[in-house]
Amino acid sequence: MKVTVFGIGYVGLVQAAVLAEVGHEVLCIDVDAKKVENLKNGQIPIFEPGLTPLVKQNYESGRLKFSIDAEEGVAHAQVQFIAVGTPPEEDGSADLKYVTAVARTIAQYMTSPKIVIDKSTVPVGTADKVRQVMGQTLQQRGIKLSFDVISNPEFLKEGAAVADCMRPERIVIGTDNPDAIEPIRELYEPFNRNHDRMIVMDIRSAELTKYAANCMLATKISFMNEMSNLAELLGADIEKVRQGIGSDSRIGYHFIYPGCGYGGSCFPKDVQALIRTSEQIGYQPKLLQAVEQVNAQQKYKLPTFVERHFGKNLAGKTFALWGLSFKPNTDDMREASSRVLMEQLWAAGAKIKAYDPEAMNETQRIYGHRSDLELMGTKEAALQGADALVICTEWQNFRAPDFDLMKSSLKSPVIFDGRNLFDPDRLEKRGFTYYGIGRGASVNPVL
Ligand code: UDX
Repeated sequence: MKVTVFGIGYVGLVQAAVLAEVGHEVLCIDVDAKKVENLKNGQIPIFEPGLTPLVKQNYESGRLKFSIDAEEGVAHAQVQFIAVGTPPEEDGSADLKYVTAVARTIAQYMTSPKIVIDKSTVPVGTADKVRQVMGQTLQQRGIKLSFDVISNPEFLKEGAAVADCMRPERIVIGTDNPDAIEPIRELYEPFNRNHDRMIVMDIRSAELTKYAANCMLATKISFMNEMSNLAELLGADIEKVRQGIGSDSRIGYHFIYPGCGYGGSCFPKDVQALIRTSEQIGYQPKLLQAVEQVNAQQKYKLPTFVERHFGKNLAGKTFALWGLSFKPNTDDMREASSRVLMEQLWAAGAKIKAYDPEAMNETQRIYGHRSDLELMGTKEAALQGADALVICTEWQNFRAPDFDLMKSSLKSPVIFDGRNLFDPDRLEKRGFTYYGIGRGASVNPVL
């Protein structure tokens, strides 16, 4: 099948590459000419495991194409994906200007019926807006052409995007026209073998499903972070509690890891957007507000530990920082806890020597101008002469460091661990002072 994808961001590029991989003819359109040129030269704008070879192979085979020509994009296929960004407005609500711009463009150039699929995470009611914008544009052109608008939210995780897209747990389709489903079934057929993963519903339910999923996951994390704060005060160990509750199959082990707060492009933005949507319709979403507040607070956990240990004034102190991205296997630093930590430590006068396996260029882009930040080539180099180590991201290769080297490199053997990578007892035996999240007795004396 032929498919056009508007927007070569995270969602658009991964979806396009995966659709091309299974044999569809995919044309990607973006307004960013440089991005399009780079992609043609095999330069992928994001770090995502498996994506570079997938894009390269499919581009070379001719099944995946890139262009800035929107008219060509509209002419290319009956199925048109909208996968552009929905950045947050000042008040946290989703800005739909790119989505409606694409809708207008499609209606501007279309000369045959289209199926417009909304992949971007958009507030409930956006499909109606897309329909309205397209209807108006066609009316201005003075022509009558039929089109369907379908909501098909994307559930991929950064760092596992290609795998998630290749083997989706579910394919949510929101439509009010049963006739429009057949082409979508054909499109997703290669991903829908063995058992039917397609869940068909009305458009508004599909739009809300995406927000509900992300808000539920964010809620689990904030719940665990709240428990970790209680555990710390009560002298309990949240890691034991996590295993204790995870073994209940109704709760499960997934997404109950306490830490220094969730980040990324989705959870913070989507929780805020659903709060704004609720408020706009006169509903106070108390739980969602609490989820957001707990998370915002949690990002100050590590700076608070540092202050508890070293005092308020950190002038003359240097901290080794391991992990800058918001989670492992990505270079994305949007809403990362490391940013709050660095900004707090800098404000208190400290210097930072930072290392991340993938996010060094991104850190350079954001904070390259700062003289109180040194970007280090290895995790060991970051430790040299630092007063203590702070860990913000659970990269696999942070899990079994050379503790003897660590001890001899640091001025004082102190670790502030925002992801609970280590066993507090073992570290204590090795002579470290160890601060973890909700590790009760190791952080606080028992009440
Ligand atoms: C998320 C959703 O998982 C995905 O389905 C949706 O499409 C987009 O948003 P992503 O933002 O890529 O994906 O990251 P995810 O792996 O979900 O992690 C989000 C944040 O939560 C990270 O900062 C991570 O460190 C944190 N997290 C996750 C925890 O603190 N504890 C956990 O138990 C799980």
